[in-house]
Amino acid sequence: MALLEVKNLVTKFPTRTGVVKAVDGVSFFLNHGEILAVVGESGSGKSVTSLSIMGLLQEPGYVSGGSITFDGTDLLALTNKNMERLRGQKLAMIFQEPMTSLNPVYRVGDQIVEAIQTHMSMKKNEAWERAVEMLRVVGIPSPEDRARDYPHQMSGGMRQRVMIAMALSCNPQLLIADEPTTALDVTIQAQILDLIYKLRDDYNMAVLFITHDLGVVSEVADNVVVMYCGQVVEQAGKIALFEKPLHPYTLGLLNSIPRLEDEKSNRLYTIRGTVPNPLDMPQGCPFSDRCEKCFNRCLKERPKLMSVQGDPTRKVRCFLYDQQEALPSCK
Ligand SMILES: Nc1ncnc2c1ncn2[C@@H]1O[C@H](COP(=O)(O)OP(=O)(O)O)[C@@H](O)[C@H]1O
Ligand SMILES: [Mg+2]
Repeated sequence: MALLEVKNLVTKFPTRTGVVKAVDGVSFFLNHGEILAVVGESGSGKSVTSLSIMGLLQEPGYVSGGSITFDGTDLLALTNKNMERLRGQKLAMIFQEPMTSLNPVYRVGDQIVEAIQTHMSMKKNEAWERAVEMLRVVGIPSPEDRARDYPHQMSGGMRQRVMIAMALSCNPQLLIADEPTTALDVTIQAQILDLIYKLRDDYNMAVLFITHDLGVVSEVADNVVVMYCGQVVEQAGKIALFEKPLHPYTLGLLNSIPRLEDEKSNRLYTIRGTVPNPLDMPQGCPFSDRCEKCFNRCLKERPKLMSVQGDPTRKVRCFLYDQQEALPSCK
């Protein structure tokens, strides 16, 4: 049984100008110890998907359809209290900017102690020892001393390590990491990715890794879900995705990864156009107005997520791969 199964998830935000469908029928599953990357440009619904799973959606957002099953439990049926118990115990989440999640007036060690004591019955000094141990696990040098630091005394990379230590302190089965390295410089980013990878191996922890950067995906993920406008547009194993991206959007994201040659020549590919306004979506495929392979049908109909012949694990939402699509021009 999968550790996490999201089925046809729909999350909406009523606004003054209309109802925004931030997540529009998303399905995926995640096994124990698996790292699944969710990738897509800003505004594609990645964070809203993860907040829906964590039960942390802000008003007026709400889940209007679908199911989320974690370790056999229907998360959408849980009371707030039971959901809170699950968070931090079996489910943990880290965010892009660790400073906003840390309390500036408490020492980092005390904050980890509090997280531990909320979910485990442990005496203060025991919990402090565990906090120091967790800081050691995430690679913070002299953890006994650093535990006494306040957040502002640490660098961004060290603060993100503290957040990971806090998330791990209760041995979660699933860590949701929402752009955990986006605010960090490249070297520190690589270190945090290594750390997440190692923690998965050491603790068989599953990771839902959210990023706008397909370059980062190539480092960490086992499997990949590509999102666009609240929908999954492609789903594949990492190697298959990088070897043969199917959706024109995935191809665009891949081509947008900066390469050394491009930096030298100052050339960088970007997907033309911008993400459509969720209240003014194209009538056909949501990607049609930016797609270099768009043809007539794409302007009129919305493609479904379809299996690709010969590979049951791959799915793509694009008429180019529709077996009924007889137009020779689109093959
Ligand atoms: N509080 C909100 N009110 C209205 N719409 C929202 C709100 N939060 C998110 N959305 C909508 O959901 C879409 C997806 O947002 P988000 O999940 O944060 O994107 P991502 O994390 O992929 O950048 C946004 O384009 C926006 O239209
Ligand atoms: Mg986001």
